[in-house]
Amino acid sequence: MKRFLVKLVLGSFLWPFAQVLSRLLVCLSATPQLLYRLSHSDVIAQLCGRNLFRAPWASDVRLEGKTVLITGANTGIGKEAAADLATRGAKVIMACRDMEKAQVAIKEVKDRSLNENVVCMKLDLADTKSIREFAQAINEGESKLNILINNAGVMVCPYSKTADGFEMQIGVNHMGHFLLTYLLLDLLKRSSPARIVTVSSMAHSWGSINLDDINSERAYDKNKAYAQSKLANVLFTRSLAKRLQGTGVTAYSLHPGVVQTDLWRHLNGPQRFVMKIVSPFTKTSAQGARTTIYCAVEPALDQESGGYYSDCAAANCSAAGKDDELAQKLWELSCRMLNITWD
Ligand SMILES: NC(=O)c1ccc[n+]([C@@H]2O[C@H](COP(=O)([O-])OP(=O)(O)OC[C@H]3O[C@@H](n4cnc5c(N)ncnc54)[C@H](OP(=O)(O)O)[C@@H]3O)[C@@H](O)[C@H]2O)c1
Repeated sequence: MKRFLVKLVLGSFLWPFAQVLSRLLVCLSATPQLLYRLSHSDVIAQLCGRNLFRAPWASDVRLEGKTVLITGANTGIGKEAAADLATRGAKVIMACRDMEKAQVAIKEVKDRSLNENVVCMKLDLADTKSIREFAQAINEGESKLNILINNAGVMVCPYSKTADGFEMQIGVNHMGHFLLTYLLLDLLKRSSPARIVTVSSMAHSWGSINLDDINSERAYDKNKAYAQSKLANVLFTRSLAKRLQGTGVTAYSLHPGVVQTDLWRHLNGPQRFVMKIVSPFTKTSAQGARTTIYCAVEPALDQESGGYYSDCAAANCSAAGKDDELAQKLWELSCRMLNITWD
């Protein structure tokens, strides 16, 4: 009886401690899951373009007999997409401005994919002459083009202009790809079913299109200029899809996630510091290429066109990204600036 009482007293005294201890242990064991879940809460998932609640997308789609063209393929997301699509058996054309870097990249892509049918060609999206020469070479040399990936990009660079006098970010990220797509469209249509994938960014949602000063000549904010160019990617895809209805050519824009690539080269000190802190939540180039590859090959997207994707799924773009009037005005302005007629 005495023993029992001692146990009872000690037990009731120790019980709260035991409970606290057990809760602590549960918490500790749940911490990885908690962090995991936290990193996939809506905001962070949006930021990083990740969703750990879903199994990562994977597909065994083969691309033998198909031709893929990727801009900016000598590094980062473009190079990873090139390696994946070459592994699936496609002929891959890596369109690069720096042929020295391109030679190193093409060797890596061939080695990794075990596919010798990979070529690189010179393309400077900051020069419409280079774009026209490149497109002419493709139109004359290729019998088909099944997937065009408008991937190349510059971010938050100091103010500079393209050879044609466009502000660099809108010039390369939007105008260059707009013209390239225009020049390759007949080939894409003849190769249908074909896809046009344009790599945008969630930064599009902080942007607006300054129709009166798209080249930021009156005032230049490098962040706004980047966001403007990425919004232009979303609006271009939306407008393009409407124009391509019934042709068998479909269009997609996407956010790849926050990806550790050379794109961050122009970030300032504090921005680099922030990126270091968030780096555990960021993606590798290979992970960052998944949504591009998804948009390029996923059969479920055959009947979809004009949409915006993130983390290998349809995603919500900003209200401005759905503004058809703005999209039409941007389309007309782009045609005027590039001196082309594209109704
Ligand atoms: N990384 C991210 O966190 C992130 C997030 C959202 C969206 N994105 C988008 O993802 C795309 C790919 O970027 P990334 O992260 O892979 O960056 P990256 O590693 O810097 O790759 C960009 C590519 O674009 C090329 N490029 C730049 N200017 C060009 C020009 N005038 N003509 C032809 N090619 C040119 C670069 O060539 P060089 O090697 O010669 O410079 C490089 O191959 C971009 O459109 C970017 O806006 C990236």
